[in-house]
Amino acid sequence: MIAAQLLAYYFTELKDDQLKKIDKYLFSMRFSDDTLKDLMSRFKREMEAGLGRDTNATATVKMLPTFVRSIPQGSEKGDFIALDLGGSNFRILRVKVTQDKKQPVQMESQVYETPDDIIHGSGSQLFDHVADCLGDFMEKQNIKDKKLPVGFTFSFPCAQTKLDEAVLVTWTKKFKASGVEGADVVKLLNKAIQKRGDYEADIMAVVNDTVGTMMTCGFDDQRCEVGIIIGTGTNACYMEELRHIDLVEGDEGRMCINTEWGAFGDDGSLEDIRTEFDREIDRGSLNPGVCSFEKMISGMYLGEIVRQILIDLTKRGFLFRGQISETLKTRGIFETKFLSQIESDRLALLQVRAILQQLGLDSTCDDSIIVKEVCGTVSRRAAQICGAGMAAVVDKIRENRGLDHLEVTVGVDGTLYKLHPHFSRIFQQTVKDLAPKCDVTFLLSEDGSGKGAALITAVGCRQRELDAQQH
Ligand code: BGC
Repeated sequence: MIAAQLLAYYFTELKDDQLKKIDKYLFSMRFSDDTLKDLMSRFKREMEAGLGRDTNATATVKMLPTFVRSIPQGSEKGDFIALDLGGSNFRILRVKVTQDKKQPVQMESQVYETPDDIIHGSGSQLFDHVADCLGDFMEKQNIKDKKLPVGFTFSFPCAQTKLDEAVLVTWTKKFKASGVEGADVVKLLNKAIQKRGDYEADIMAVVNDTVGTMMTCGFDDQRCEVGIIIGTGTNACYMEELRHIDLVEGDEGRMCINTEWGAFGDDGSLEDIRTEFDREIDRGSLNPGVCSFEKMISGMYLGEIVRQILIDLTKRGFLFRGQISETLKTRGIFETKFLSQIESDRLALLQVRAILQQLGLDSTCDDSIIVKEVCGTVSRRAAQICGAGMAAVVDKIRENRGLDHLEVTVGVDGTLYKLHPHFSRIFQQTVKDLAPKCDVTFLLSEDGSGKGAALITAVGCRQRELDAQQH
């Protein structure tokens, strides 16, 4: 019996035939095991295509080399600044890594506002803002006279040929500053810092948030070779064999690959599982036609998908007495945090109704049951397809190493994963079902991306010293 039926049985007189209709209506968003298996295989093929020299140009999953070659050894140390731009907040951190057994990493951080007019303005405005905030932070930390190494967590797809160079491929999520796509963000930031002229910074590494998360968890658990973010956006990285990465010289050892899996399906290959609602939110988004996979999974979009479905159900007379209110017409009103609240098991139906009422949606108890069922369907679909992607990643690592059985740890971060009452459970179960030969431990990363950027910077500093000794 589906959750809504149970609720209906206990609390209301929502008609059985109406429930069946809703169930049928949501059917296209519920996936069978076979569909998920098929999705996993398709994703695996797309990863191969992204890694191949001749196929990379047309592959949607770009499999970007990160030039991070090893997980932390635990022997890193130093005093670093980490910038973290592209997640839910713009943060600056001071990270001290020591050999102290009890508390090897000490951090102080500050969140800075990044108003919409800046993230949608010009690139130079955006980087001037970053440089201003960094100046303010250094002032407050009393380190303006020092030239500390900086690790820059920049959570967007970047083409890298070395650790301290990163050309933005395309903006995603809420960002759209002009003149940055195609440019090296290290150069843009250095230029903004030089323009101020009152402090110096040595930007040593640009790091995707997935990579930062993997590194942070890797500091505590050497088996952590995968990082995943399920928050405003979604993405995963993992340690790939260098011999499989055609775009990087060398065959020995491993390198971390930023999959940029959010773009999976941008060639139309997910059309069989996308719905009219997915297409509608794509049309209304900042970046139509791209990030197909991400738009079915991440926190920035789930609320909007629910809103689209609610509008359609209202038009069909199933909800809100057939009346589409102005509130329901408002884009962005149904934030993903409401999905988490509505789906909480601890919430009685009356409380669901109260949330809808707060949102300005005048609902009956029957409406609340239907809304809860819609939210559950949308978030379950997201968790399952995300799980199919993760299953493909861990199973690829297993195959790479010719193992019958792989034990691996995945570092995870992101608000949706952390705050949603069911997402993590469904996601983990899907990985287990689809990759039965992999024994996966999921490790939540606290403050992952900033700390990880500092650790990568530490590795980068050590490498630079070694290079200097050799030349
Ligand atoms: C970006 C990724 C990032 C992810 C999570 C996506 O939109 O393209 O680079 O890792 O969001 O922040």
